[in-house]
Amino acid sequence: MEHTRIKDLLKSEEFGKEVIVKGWVRTFRNNQFIAINDGSTINNIQAVVDFENTADEILKRITTGAAVRVQGVLVESQGKGQRVEVKATEVSIIGDSDPEKYPLQPKKHSLEFLREIAHLRFRTGTFNAVFKVRNALAFAVNKFFNERDFVYMHTPIITGSDAEGAGEMFQVTTLDLNNPPRTESGAIDFKEDFFGKATNLTVSGQLEGELAAMAFGNIYTFGPTFRAENSNTTRHLAEFWMIEPEMAFYELEDNMDLAEDLLKYVISYALENCPEEIEFLKNRLLEEEKSKPQADRSELNLIEKLNFVIDNDFERVTYTEAVDILQKSKPNQKKQFKYLIEGWGADLQSEHERYLVEKHFKKPVILTDYPREIKSFYMKQNPVDAQGRNTVRAMDILFPGIGEMVGGSQREENLEKLITRMGEVGIPTEEMEWFLDTRRFGSVPHSGFGVGFERLVLFTTGMTNIRDVIPFPRTPKNAEF
Ligand code: 4AD
Ligand code: MG
Repeated sequence: MEHTRIKDLLKSEEFGKEVIVKGWVRTFRNNQFIAINDGSTINNIQAVVDFENTADEILKRITTGAAVRVQGVLVESQGKGQRVEVKATEVSIIGDSDPEKYPLQPKKHSLEFLREIAHLRFRTGTFNAVFKVRNALAFAVNKFFNERDFVYMHTPIITGSDAEGAGEMFQVTTLDLNNPPRTESGAIDFKEDFFGKATNLTVSGQLEGELAAMAFGNIYTFGPTFRAENSNTTRHLAEFWMIEPEMAFYELEDNMDLAEDLLKYVISYALENCPEEIEFLKNRLLEEEKSKPQADRSELNLIEKLNFVIDNDFERVTYTEAVDILQKSKPNQKKQFKYLIEGWGADLQSEHERYLVEKHFKKPVILTDYPREIKSFYMKQNPVDAQGRNTVRAMDILFPGIGEMVGGSQREENLEKLITRMGEVGIPTEEMEWFLDTRRFGSVPHSGFGVGFERLVLFTTGMTNIRDVIPFPRTPKNAEF
């Protein structure tokens, strides 16, 4: 006889049926009631043991964390708290768990503590819910693009280029770091390295994605990316997943429309397909917020917040308009911002982004047309404006509680302008001829963006630290497991 998943048993009406459950013990009370979880749902099934007819040897081994097999009859529950339970006729231990050593106790643990045992935190309700939602979002991303005929293109993880030109790369080498080969001038000789040149982990699949878009039209990548930025915040990871679509013949407005549609689609999908998980996470957040002062609590609960994003148009504002709003804002006037906005050209810090999204507009905001100097080299340049300002066709999507969720742009399709810009910011073109070829042979207007997948999961689950929405977080000074 096959065992049945707890998720299905909890919905079943087949009382009197003989069933087998396999899973891990969450609690064992009064030598009688086992709460078993098999990961198929956040909820446990209760098995009632006939302790008088069960060997002591077995009862002793029913401990938190142990893997068990329970055979019995599905019955309507006598007790409160559950609709069905299993009246056990036979209990066996598949894998023991020493209760003295098992780190998870049947009580609430802090998220910080659970991060230290990331291999076991999967067995908690919170992380079951978080990673089910993450799974649903990942599936929805692929579904969204598949329904629109985008080609899923796998871009490389090891590359020779810095797609963002920000120099935040992890090097990849097999050279002996204690004794690397040197050139005559004394520099490390990467010709001797595995790939015959210096390589790094990718910071973005965009550049390779652009090549594919120039042949397939619409493509996307969805894979791991790496940034060696020393940002120890609740929003940054050194290894994170990014969704990057790239579309030929798309201008900035088309790009914004697609990004807004994608975010609404995947959040709706999670709401529809993970109702129990999101309900659980909503209550978790309410509980967490109880310890905060009233002013810091959210006005909307998690489900209301998700629906709000789905039901409302994102606000579209230019950088210039945003700077105007920020300059006139109370926290700027009263010098409450850490970085005061003195005028046009300033890079926006997260405090500014949060003000715009959470205080001023109170909804997701798409900021466009940033100063050229604070954005990447590949962005399409706008004509110089009346005040002599240079801007680019950039777009960042800012979310409440998250800040930047999406970064994207229309791309500079003009070869000369692109080469000039690369020269200005010091990106050598020799290594990038393959990229520049897209502008030499049949160049077209095109656009794309990158969604930080963990920031999307963070928003959808209402968790507050990005380390808690990726199975094994990598952050400065931390690469456990
Ligand atoms: O704004 P970014 O750097 O844009 C790019 O990489 C472009 N090449 C994307 C494109 O146009 N195809 O990164 C995109 C998004 C950010 O908006 C943010 O959500 C996320 O990636 N992100 C991070 N997420 C977690 N940890 C980090 N260290 C992140 N850095 C960026
Ligand atoms: Mg960005």
